[in-house]
Amino acid sequence: MKRAAQPGPDKSGAGRFRLRSFRLRITLMSTATALAAILILFVAASTTIVARRAQILDHILSAHLSGPGFGVATPALWPAIDAHLNASFSAFAPQGSQGGYAILRASRADGSLVYRSTSWPAALDTAALPRGPGLHTVADGALEWRLGQVRHGDMTVWVGVNRSLSNAQLRVTLWRFGAAAGVLGALIALLAWYLSARAMRPVEHLTGVMLGLNASDLDQRVAADEEDVEFAQLVTVFNAMLDRLQRSFLQAIRFSGDAAHELKTPLTILQGQLEHAFTHAAKPEQEEALIEMLEEVRRLDSIVRKLLMLSRADAGQLQVPLSPFDLRPVLDELAEDIELLDPGRAVRLDLPPLLMVKGDTDLLRQVLQNLVSNAVKYGLPGGWIALSARQHGGQWQIDVSNASSGIAAEHRERLFDRFYRADHAHNRRIPGVGLGLSLAREIARAHGGELLLVEAAQECTCFRLCLPAGL
Ligand SMILES: Nc1ncnc2c1ncn2[C@@H]1O[C@H](COP(=O)(O)OP(=O)(O)OP(=O)(O)O)[C@@H](O)[C@H]1O
Ligand SMILES: [Mg+2]
Repeated sequence: MKRAAQPGPDKSGAGRFRLRSFRLRITLMSTATALAAILILFVAASTTIVARRAQILDHILSAHLSGPGFGVATPALWPAIDAHLNASFSAFAPQGSQGGYAILRASRADGSLVYRSTSWPAALDTAALPRGPGLHTVADGALEWRLGQVRHGDMTVWVGVNRSLSNAQLRVTLWRFGAAAGVLGALIALLAWYLSARAMRPVEHLTGVMLGLNASDLDQRVAADEEDVEFAQLVTVFNAMLDRLQRSFLQAIRFSGDAAHELKTPLTILQGQLEHAFTHAAKPEQEEALIEMLEEVRRLDSIVRKLLMLSRADAGQLQVPLSPFDLRPVLDELAEDIELLDPGRAVRLDLPPLLMVKGDTDLLRQVLQNLVSNAVKYGLPGGWIALSARQHGGQWQIDVSNASSGIAAEHRERLFDRFYRADHAHNRRIPGVGLGLSLAREIARAHGGELLLVEAAQECTCFRLCLPAGL
């Protein structure tokens, strides 16, 4: 699983945490910015709303106090005035509140009570009431009242409004606003995640092209004019890099192909002349020297031919006519060759009577010949060699195995590299140049198949040639 975050390089000595996902960083940064903006807006809006609301309450309360009604009220009118007061403040309480929005009290200078609301709190007796002009805030337990007074003759009238109810309504509003901000934040995060994915698309496209690149398909390019201007330069640089890579790759292929081609003719001439000299050699010492020279020339010739074929494969020119034929006789011939060359070897065959594949007989013989000659060269002396084949999902799996002392893990991946030979090949001075397996793999791939090392344990080495079934 990919890790999204890991501690960044610690230059200061203190362990710092760094998010490694660019997309996650963009999402978090844009969401944090949006949430900070919402928070500032929320604080500014709520402070203004709270202050403005207090002003409005005070304004209505002052308007009631300065009205003409109290001075001319008859005893029968006071309950109506009380109800009217409550109604005027009911809009400032949370929905479903049951009265108690405002309170009213009127008393004469001699202390006689003219009127008192039923909800008038006992704690606010006349002694506890603030006397000065203007409006006052008085706390009564959990409740908070805003109170003002007005005089009409010897009568003092007190009007109060329940600020706790107004504050509760304000809190409900602000909670809703906060919840809406949370939902908005989540939506912004989703949007930022989506937009960052869209922003990454050109990079993903470029990565896809890079992943699809291989040596035989270097002529892919990304159309710069289809990308956004911000990425067009990156695409142009990438295309230019591909141009240079392709040029130098083609140069290298052409060079090895041309060199091999140029060497082929002189080698053939040299081989012919050496054979001619051998047939006319006067002394046995001359014959021996000529045989050694002929062997070296043949070795060189085989290297040149392999290099020529590999350069054709690199240039994508190793195209084989895929005509169906039976591979079984080729495998039988190779088994006979082993028995002739090394009679001490036990050869085990597990082959179907008909092994139909599509391709070129000579090229596939070359692949199998290299596998078999490797099994003879690198297998345990006096050990067994096995050739087996089975069909699996429309493919033939042809295994060439031998008794072995194993191939060290560090060599296994590199056996298919050109000119690579494991230590034992060098140490035991076994003839070969290390081109056989790389060429065999190219030929297998040109047939739509594959060549794999499937077993390299202590007792057995097994190479598998996979080929599409011919019928
Ligand atoms: N059956 C095997 N058992 C153990 N090692 C093997 C076996 N087949 C191949 N190898 C190792 O893989 C290396 C590469 O094999 P490859 O056939 O490419 O080259 P080569 O046999 O050395 O030379 P040539 O080009 O003549 O085939 C060999 O040098 C050897 O170290
Ligand atoms: Mg070989």
